[in-house]
Amino acid sequence: MVETKEKKKTGGLAGIVAGDSSICLCGVEEQSLRYRGYSIENLAEHATFEEVAWLLLRGKLPTKQQLRDYQSHLMKQRDLPKPLKAILEQIPADANMMDVLRTGCSALGTLEPEIAGSDPFKVADRLIACLSSILFYWYLFHTTGKRVDLNTDEMTVAGHILKLLLNKTPIEMHRRCLDVSLILYAEHEFNASTFAVRTIASTLSDFYSAIAGGIGALRGPLHGGANEAAMELIESFSTPDQAEQGVMEMLAKKQLIMGFGHRVYTTSDPRSVIIKELARLLSVQAKDQRLFPVAERIDQVMWREKKLFTNLDFYSALAYHFSGIPTKMFTPLFVFARIAGWSAHLLEQRSNNKLIRPISNYIGPVAQTWLPIEVRE
Ligand code: COA
Repeated sequence: MVETKEKKKTGGLAGIVAGDSSICLCGVEEQSLRYRGYSIENLAEHATFEEVAWLLLRGKLPTKQQLRDYQSHLMKQRDLPKPLKAILEQIPADANMMDVLRTGCSALGTLEPEIAGSDPFKVADRLIACLSSILFYWYLFHTTGKRVDLNTDEMTVAGHILKLLLNKTPIEMHRRCLDVSLILYAEHEFNASTFAVRTIASTLSDFYSAIAGGIGALRGPLHGGANEAAMELIESFSTPDQAEQGVMEMLAKKQLIMGFGHRVYTTSDPRSVIIKELARLLSVQAKDQRLFPVAERIDQVMWREKKLFTNLDFYSALAYHFSGIPTKMFTPLFVFARIAGWSAHLLEQRSNNKLIRPISNYIGPVAQTWLPIEVRE
């Protein structure tokens, strides 16, 4: 079927308002982002991920005491039930990490099912605290053969992740960089995975099913998977000149360059500016002479040739790389952050629920009559 101009414009629901939300504002005109009214620049400079998770879920910034209590509450929920650890041990060592997370989340739902009428934040907080433990228990079991203790002494989710991964106390710069990145990734209104979460929640399904669906949606390279693809691209070039030539060839072949472009923003992604500066600082600290200049050249070429700008995924990839995080863990890190936004949306959907069930524009055959098999052509 030939798409009309109008249909092409609305393909992928682009530009369609699909519901009300008071959680986050992507300001299209000023290319800005606010969580519950607070600018992303403000939060990235001053807040911690736990503060932001509280803000997204509960609608207000926590007091000093609330934040302290919340951090210890999350710390106490990092360990996993034994049957879940046994399941993680059975998942192949070469499994995709997003599959591990999706399976772990789903399995936890059978071991600690949501109880109707209980504290609405219970499962959200449990998942914020333990999704990283699910990944690292599986990862460390298969890479070191050890059943790691998941109760680290790190106060923050960022510290907990780095301590488990590196098996030592992380340096402050790496801890803070990851903390800021978790803030930047925590929420982004009706993106594909959040919309999937809301759609599942709208059927009155349980918390874990909705989040498992969100993880599945985030896995794709047009969404969360872009940060890993961006790293692979940057690493494939030895010099900025080589990068320029390579990207020009890719563009000539009409290939997608991962980490560029956005469905909502048109000239810049406000989160990218923040993570780029962190990636730059980390590259200086790592005495990098190759990757950051290569990335900047790709950035310049994309703007010059296509007026396409880096989204959050592009420089996040470098920031993670310089913090010692393996590339295949980049998309799971997105999950550890976005669980806050997904949960806030799920609760918002439930608070004013209406089944999400749009209609399709039928483009199939006209009415047909069933024929006996002997006479079919
Ligand atoms: N590299 C090369 N070309 C790109 C591009 C990219 N990253 N992003 C968009 N374009 C081109 C498209 O090919 C299209 O060109 P055309 O008009 O000649 O067909 C044009 O720009 C418009 O893009 P479109 O696919 O309609 O935009 P969209 O709103 O549907 O897509 C994304 C938004 C994010 C899916 C898209 O920019 C993309 O695939 N980016 C790479 C993946 C990525 O970084 N994802 C993370 C998003 S936060």
